Amino acid sequence: MRLDQFLSARTLYSRRELRTMITKGKVTVDGAPARKPDQPVSPEKNIVCLLGKHVPGDPYLYVLLNKPKGYVSSADEAGQHSVMELIPPELSRKDLRPVGRLDKDSTGLLLFTDDGQLAHQVIAARGHVAKYYRILLARPWEDAYADAIAAGIRLADGAQCKPAQAAPVPETQREALICLHEGKYHQVRRMFAALGNHVEELERVALGGLTMPPDLPLGGCIQLFEQDVQKMLHSETVFSSLLQTKKESSS
Ligand code: URA
Repeated sequence: MRLDQFLSARTLYSRRELRTMITKGKVTVDGAPARKPDQPVSPEKNIVCLLGKHVPGDPYLYVLLNKPKGYVSSADEAGQHSVMELIPPELSRKDLRPVGRLDKDSTGLLLFTDDGQLAHQVIAARGHVAKYYRILLARPWEDAYADAIAAGIRLADGAQCKPAQAAPVPETQREALICLHEGKYHQVRRMFAALGNHVEELERVALGGLTMPPDLPLGGCIQLFEQDVQKMLHSETVFSSLLQTKKESSS
């Protein structure tokens, strides 16, 4: 593969910008300055650095963001800050997109990838990867909620939700954990509205077998690797263990 092709697929720079950077010696291959854009490189074998930063050779990139409030999941909503702004340049690629959405006021685990097949696998209706949300309600949890959610909630617009799992967080009055296997628009907020309550805070804490790294601050990103992606797809987080996870801000 040509060096400029390799870099174009893995960074946000255009081919033209990359060619200029290569001829100006801003790119190294295995420590030696590259001079020609058509220099052949092997993504598996060569270490390519651009402006001193390693450009990983992996065909696809997977990034986990701890989304803060105030950012929308789409890239181009006029006048809004996008989650794309939170991805540092070294983890950016042209086709990198969030997998599914979190509302502007929601926080927590948001996955990004340029692997379209994986994105489809995560959000496809069949085999939808489980999503776990920790929520803070406006009014106390009621015992009837768990059974209603397990039976499948009907939303105000008549849409029928699939059966889901929910339980109150021990030693709290207004916190709960909910696990969904689908992703309707504003689903958790609308489910609790249908139950006569209101979701004040919503944080995604796990996706399939992948849980939010406890030390990742809001707005922080990490690169995920093949084993993390496999864990996400092929295992589930244990609901009862998530329920026991202590949070600093309990109600
Ligand atoms: N459900 C919601 O209502 N909002 C989110 O951000 C995610 C799930």
